[in-house]
Amino acid sequence: MLSEQDFIVNDNTTSVEKGTFQWSAPSNIALVKYWGKKENQIPANPSISFTLNNCKTITNLAFTKKHFDKLSVTNNRFSFDLLFEGKPKEEFKPKIQKFFERIDVYCPYLKDYHFTIDTENTFPHSSGIASSASGMAALAMNIMSLEKALNPTMTNQFFFQKASFLARLGSGSACRSIKGNIVVWGKHAEIEGSSDLFGVEFPAKIHENFKNYQDTILLVDKGEKQVSSTIGHDLMHNHPFAEQRFAQAHDNLAKIKIIFETGNLDEFIQIVESEALTLHAMMMTSLPYFILMKPNTLEIINTIWKFRNETNIPICFTLDAGANVHILYPENVREHVLQFIKDELVGYCQNGNYICDTIGNGSQILT
Ligand code: DP6
Repeated sequence: MLSEQDFIVNDNTTSVEKGTFQWSAPSNIALVKYWGKKENQIPANPSISFTLNNCKTITNLAFTKKHFDKLSVTNNRFSFDLLFEGKPKEEFKPKIQKFFERIDVYCPYLKDYHFTIDTENTFPHSSGIASSASGMAALAMNIMSLEKALNPTMTNQFFFQKASFLARLGSGSACRSIKGNIVVWGKHAEIEGSSDLFGVEFPAKIHENFKNYQDTILLVDKGEKQVSSTIGHDLMHNHPFAEQRFAQAHDNLAKIKIIFETGNLDEFIQIVESEALTLHAMMMTSLPYFILMKPNTLEIINTIWKFRNETNIPICFTLDAGANVHILYPENVREHVLQFIKDELVGYCQNGNYICDTIGNGSQILT
């Protein structure tokens, strides 16, 4: 089993003066949720997600080797420019600086270069869709391309595992955005190869029912979140229900593993909706407590339940740490569900906005 030490680079085998890479990485939607963490971005419980296809970040990384006197102090700093959609974006720099500091020990070559990072999302910035998962994953892929250029004998398996390992240090859920279609992050007794350090592709059989699964994201509230995920995770320390919650996540992951094999959609719906409501229940029962759902979030949930009861169409909802609603359903009911969304749910979306996505394959190199 790999440990943190295995991700430290000792010596580069090749030297590289300059170059540029471009990767895209998608967002992902958790089915069993990560909420609560230990030191160094180790999750308090394992989680599993669908990798998305359309909601993604595209990041270009240009790098040039610095030529300073070996003893120069400036040589011992990270040096980078950050552009968002081609324009300088100072506000994003501290997050990247912090990310570089966290991964410094695993990527000591970063201080040898000046970087220009240019990034853009395929979804609107203010949509309330978090770009941290796709953004950190896309940056981690680019960094690994540089590391592979410096060490060309690296295996493909190590390349993707370390990318996920680095992405996790940027944002926990980002480690599930490297690969598709279904990714597990966090050690689980019944999932072979699962690790707290990086995400792995779901290793067992996946029933036909889940091929091309659909996710339509209803944008209920695009405003800034009142509570960041990082603060939310922290509130799981000393939370009165924390231990039961972490145990429940292990149980739910064991159950969902069987569901992916059998294709039982009723059981899938029950676990996914229960996980979403439990996540929000944890927020409502922490100290301080908070509510991220909006009135329209509840209207949408009730309308989905009514539609499901009346039609027997197997759709369900899930939520992230926000007010937006993800509607999950099999591909074969797509037309029917999209019509339902147009007829009954668009009115609850901010400016009538929603995004159609499907399960996807993970990060991709563009150049
Ligand atoms: C509710 O990955 O955003 O979306 O590790 O602090 O960056 P940090 O948190 P983040 O938390 C996401 C939590 C969640 C559930 C999930 O995606 O599993």
